[in-house]
Amino acid sequence: MSRKPVVYVIYYSTYGHIERLARRIMQGLEQSGVDAKLFQVAETLPQEILEKMSAPPKAADVPVITAAQLAEADGFLFGVPTRFGTTPSQIKAFFDSCGQLWSTGALYGKFAGCFFSTSSQASGQETTALSCVPFFVHHGINFVPIGYKSQKLGDNSDIHGGSPWGAGTITGADGKRMPSQLELDVAHFQGLEFGNLLKRVVH
Ligand SMILES: Cc1cc2nc3c(=O)[nH]c(=O)nc-3n(C[C@H](O)[C@H](O)[C@H](O)COP(=O)(O)O)c2cc1C
Repeated sequence: MSRKPVVYVIYYSTYGHIERLARRIMQGLEQSGVDAKLFQVAETLPQEILEKMSAPPKAADVPVITAAQLAEADGFLFGVPTRFGTTPSQIKAFFDSCGQLWSTGALYGKFAGCFFSTSSQASGQETTALSCVPFFVHHGINFVPIGYKSQKLGDNSDIHGGSPWGAGTITGADGKRMPSQLELDVAHFQGLEFGNLLKRVVH
């Protein structure tokens, strides 16, 4: 009999957009029947700077992940808000804390996907995905995109984030636009599909 796959959703979020996508992805994973847990990576900015950036407090109900915990899961979905077209330093710092796991091959053969947030359109969601791929490749982690199976990705009736690389949202220059229903639907789809995939491959 197959065991229940374990999936960790791990995000960084300054203003809550990625967090909102992450919570919707969790619902998709839970619907698929896998054992899903939500984590955030450690903040690296001092409180003084966060206040100057008008960043709200971090979610109190979401624990901070440690590198060693990655070994417990079969798959990961990383929530990555774009910084100058690439990953924020908080995500990079977490990736860089995984050297011990790399040296022991502890993550080899696991599965990972990403989801994104940018302030505007065509301003870095795909390049942010690409900047995560070397981390996956060096660990031997299988990258799982979402392709175009969700027809919502092709719906151009309104602006939206997300692409075949993963779910996404567009915040607007002032950060006031929160994930739309379409973007949340794609996030749910990513969680559901990722969970279904892991049920097929984890035994
Ligand atoms: C230093 C910095 C660099 C950024 N670079 C980009 C960028 O290259 N493209 C873009 O569209 N948004 C950029 N943004 C906006 C962030 O992507 C946006 O604040 C983030 O997606 C919001 O997600 P969150 O609410 O989960 O933190 C940048 C923000 C900061 C603070």
